[in-house]
Amino acid sequence: MIEAKSLTHRYGSDEALHAVNFSVQEGEFVAIVGESGSGKTTLLSILSTLLTPTQGSVEIIGNDTKRIKKIDNFRRKNIGFIFQFHYLINYLTVYENITLAIDKKNRAGVQTLLEELGIESLRERYPYEISGGQRQRVAIARALANHPKVIFADEPTGNLDSKNSRNVFALLKKIAERDHITVVVVTHDLQQAKNADTIYEMNDGHISNYN
Ligand SMILES: Nc1ncnc2c1ncn2[C@@H]1O[C@H](COP(=O)(O)OP(=O)(O)O)[C@@H](O)[C@H]1O
Ligand SMILES: [Mg+2]
Repeated sequence: MIEAKSLTHRYGSDEALHAVNFSVQEGEFVAIVGESGSGKTTLLSILSTLLTPTQGSVEIIGNDTKRIKKIDNFRRKNIGFIFQFHYLINYLTVYENITLAIDKKNRAGVQTLLEELGIESLRERYPYEISGGQRQRVAIARALANHPKVIFADEPTGNLDSKNSRNVFALLKKIAERDHITVVVVTHDLQQAKNADTIYEMNDGHISNYN
């Protein structure tokens, strides 16, 4: 599903990734842990087509990312993004945020998604009128709304308390499993990472199996 070969990334003369090899199977739920500054966000950004590596290649769903022609379309069709800070648009309602970039054929499924995530009653509210945990559920709904094949999440529960954090993580895991969505999630929280199929650890630009 995802195959990264010898990824090196430099910001100026700073090397953030050193020849990283990494792969994810279809339907796998992968967690990446590691200290701040170890290169997790850089790796996730490259895997998810948001950043072009200095060296190396990424194949995702059978496509070499360097050769994808309409990258916006490719992302909208295949990839869901969840970030630590939700990036919801404050002047759009919950429902409008979730459906902003949705394909017509997926519109009918939004109602079910809202119910599953327990945010149905919030659909006409604005992001500033709901709690942090609710906002992250909205962000998950938005990421799932187009039925992506893969979800990339960068510390999706990083600014939530532990109870909300467990809930949000469990929901993501449950829906991903049921719908056979591949997930790569960066997390600080080792307890959460232990729910993943596979855990990797980043250390100063290198990746290894966590054990
Ligand atoms: N946009 C950037 N410009 C310059 N250096 C960066 C940039 N983004 C990250 N870095 C550096 O790259 C290294 C890895 O950062 P990052 O991938 O954000 O790690 P993590 O997500 O694990 O905290 C760090 O040393 C960080 O300072
Ligand atoms: Mg980061």
